[in-house]
Amino acid sequence: MEYHLVLYLLTLLACGLLHFQAHGSLACLEEERVGLLKLKEAFHHPNASASLPSWRVEEIDCCRWERVTCDSMTKRVIGLSLSDARQLGFLNPSSFLNASFFLNASLFLPFQKLQNLSLDRSHLKGFYGELRLSKLQVLDLSWNMFTEIPSLGALQSLKILNLKENYLESFSHFEAELTTLNKLETLNLDGNNLIGEIPPSIGAMASLKVLSFKYNQLNGSLPMEGFYGELRLTKLQVLDLGFNNFTEIPSLGALQSLKILNLEFNFLESFSHFEGAFQFYSIALFCLFACDVTLMQNLTLSHYFEQPGDVES
Ligand SMILES: *[C@@H]1O[C@H](CO)[C@@H](O)[C@H](O)[C@H]1NC(C)=O
Ligand SMILES: *[C@@H]1O[C@H](CO)[C@@H](O)[C@H](O)[C@H]1NC(C)=O
Ligand SMILES: *[C@@H]1O[C@H](CO)[C@@H](O)[C@H](O)[C@H]1NC(C)=O
Ligand SMILES: *[C@@H]1O[C@H](CO)[C@@H](O)[C@H](O)[C@H]1NC(C)=O
Ligand SMILES: *[C@@H]1O[C@H](CO)[C@@H](O)[C@H](O)[C@H]1NC(C)=O
Ligand SMILES: *[C@@H]1O[C@H](CO)[C@@H](O)[C@H](O)[C@H]1NC(C)=O
Ligand SMILES: *[C@@H]1O[C@H](CO)[C@@H](O)[C@H](O)[C@H]1NC(C)=O
Repeated sequence: MEYHLVLYLLTLLACGLLHFQAHGSLACLEEERVGLLKLKEAFHHPNASASLPSWRVEEIDCCRWERVTCDSMTKRVIGLSLSDARQLGFLNPSSFLNASFFLNASLFLPFQKLQNLSLDRSHLKGFYGELRLSKLQVLDLSWNMFTEIPSLGALQSLKILNLKENYLESFSHFEAELTTLNKLETLNLDGNNLIGEIPPSIGAMASLKVLSFKYNQLNGSLPMEGFYGELRLTKLQVLDLGFNNFTEIPSLGALQSLKILNLEFNFLESFSHFEGAFQFYSIALFCLFACDVTLMQNLTLSHYFEQPGDVES
């Protein structure tokens, strides 16, 4: 009799535990916890001060770890902020220069619910393999050492991509990796070494609202196919081309949603497309020289975007 009662109670307890686990309210997923520990190892630099101190093997609930955000119901990891997590600021100058590294993209495979990932300021040079995170919406790769656009084509939920302040020199891989991101709203490529003309395939990125190419060496005309052809950036609200090598005001009449066009600090010689440039329905700022675009963007856009992927410098 007693034996049956104990069995009954044990069964109840087990059901309770199962229930907890199914709804994940006990602790984070073991697979993700192990994944985070592997990430910590990959981020470790022997000469930097110990990074991610709260990520410890003996701490069961990784949702309590610094820089990790979990969904409060499912306890799945939805945000990872690894900005300067390698603590490279504490390195001596020679080690600092030598600290660039590649991350194995498969390290992120356990985090299938991840929405936000910040990997900025890490001396990251690239990924081995392709990032596959179908829920990812925000990816910050700014202030790293990418010389090529990385393999991001599988990030089909991506809305904000920040590649500002890297060493990108060409648009190779642009078409293959970026134009297929059909939810992308903000693309920031400021402060790279991009030379020449913007590729026409940019017109395929129909969901773009903010496009920023500040501090590069772009010249030539803007691609007619991209801005005028069948493919059109009809949702584009901000186009920032400041601090480049453009010599003509681009003709942009088809950008019906454009609110801010920044052309400050270029080498504009001709006003031949001036009229075309003003065929906007709702332009708020047309900037040719030394305008406080950051301030204007903040004022104009604060009600469109919570955090416009760092459009400001
Ligand atoms: C993800 O980023 C967006 C925009 O930057 C922010 O509003 C949101 O709170 C972030 N979510 C998480 C889970 O970090
Ligand atoms: C550069 O980094 C590599 C590997 O991270 C290391 O083996 C090497 O000793 C470093 N060289 C210098 C000069 O710091
Ligand atoms: C760590 O610092 C030592 C001494 O400065 C240096 O010899 C070594 O190369 C550094 N290691 C890395 C990986 O940078
Ligand atoms: C990346 O990690 C996977 C899984 O651990 C491994 O099979 C693969 O060889 C790694 N790739 C590189 C280039 O290290
Ligand atoms: C753009 O710059 C490149 C490299 O300096 C040059 O070869 C090319 O002629 C320029 N194009 C235009 C249209 O100015
Ligand atoms: C862009 O202009 C700068 C400043 O005049 C010049 O040094 C640089 O060579 C130009 N770049 C290209 C690609 O023409
Ligand atoms: C614009 O907004 C950002 C973020 O809200 C803030 O950090 C920055 O100082 C603002 N810039 C100006 C010029 O107000």
